[in-house]
Amino acid sequence: MDKTLLLLLVITVCVSSSSAQLSVGFYGRSCPRVESIVKRVALDKFKQAPTSAAATVRLFFHDCFGCDASVTLASTPANRAEKDADINKSLAGDAFDSVMKAKKAVEAECPGVVSCADVLAILTRDFVGLTGGPAWQVKKGRRDGRISRAEAATANLPGAEFSVNQLLKNFATKGLNLVDLVSLSGAHTFGFAHCDQFSSRLYNFSSSNRMDPTMSSSFASDLKKSCPIRGGNPNLVEPFDPVTPFEFDNAYYKNLLAGRGLVTSDQELYSDRRTRKLVRLFSKKRQRFFNAFADAMDKMGSIGVKTGTSGEIRRDCSRIN
Ligand code: HEM
Repeated sequence: MDKTLLLLLVITVCVSSSSAQLSVGFYGRSCPRVESIVKRVALDKFKQAPTSAAATVRLFFHDCFGCDASVTLASTPANRAEKDADINKSLAGDAFDSVMKAKKAVEAECPGVVSCADVLAILTRDFVGLTGGPAWQVKKGRRDGRISRAEAATANLPGAEFSVNQLLKNFATKGLNLVDLVSLSGAHTFGFAHCDQFSSRLYNFSSSNRMDPTMSSSFASDLKKSCPIRGGNPNLVEPFDPVTPFEFDNAYYKNLLAGRGLVTSDQELYSDRRTRKLVRLFSKKRQRFFNAFADAMDKMGSIGVKTGTSGEIRRDCSRIN
């Protein structure tokens, strides 16, 4: 074969190797019912605790800056795991419980076959669907990581006060672009945030403004009632979308147009010229948002995956085999 052609082939294989090894039918022979087993668990869990849906989608995101279920590993005396990083302490227990329950149900039928990382990917898709969001086919074949470090989560994940510049830079390090950023942020159309994630926007924004001027004043006064400047309940959470907090819809973008984005990184998407156009589009065309979200979730679900013989198929998602 021509040398240049061979080189080109090698480069192509290397660049696309991790996602190329994921496939929709990965468990077709080894665990053909995996999707229906996980769906059953998602349904039951959602009936019991509807907050599990948003919580699990967030868990997937926090895992997926390297989708290998390293986020579900527990700390050991020798190692502080990702889940104990400050940024992950607010990941809800119901999300971890959903993964544990789904994995247990899958293990009962196909022991040692399906990774925790794939269980989390399927669960996430199912929860988005159950709350009215888009459906997509989940590519599978991820293997579970054996390393989980709190410092990695702190270094990799974006902060609530990030500007669009910082968000774009952070997403780019994972191969995600502006469209991915705006569409994935739309996951903040459901679920909740703790007061400490946005209270600086209400009380001590800057030397010239006590309140973030991009925030609607009626929205701010509602938030102040639940999140007082002093003596508030640190466990209290506020919905990202107060009207439909359990629905996956495009209300997030409509809220941004009205200055009702909850955390800085949300409202910034409307303040910044580069992302504003897309926010406007998604606020008007729900289906365009759904399509972009499904594509971006597929892309995010392939970041840093372990395939082939790397990693392992964990038996218990909270510890390595
Ligand atoms: C763009 C950068 C992002 C930032 C700065 C960010 C930040 C946050 C913050 C501060 C919270 C509230 C945490 C708490 O106080 O409990 C939150 C919640 C949440 N995030 Fe994000 N996030 C981002 C992107 C994403 C992405 C890409 C997804 C998923 C695709 C996502 C899904 C969620 C969900 C569903 C919740 C609600 C969780 C619950 O109700 O338990 N976020 N995020």
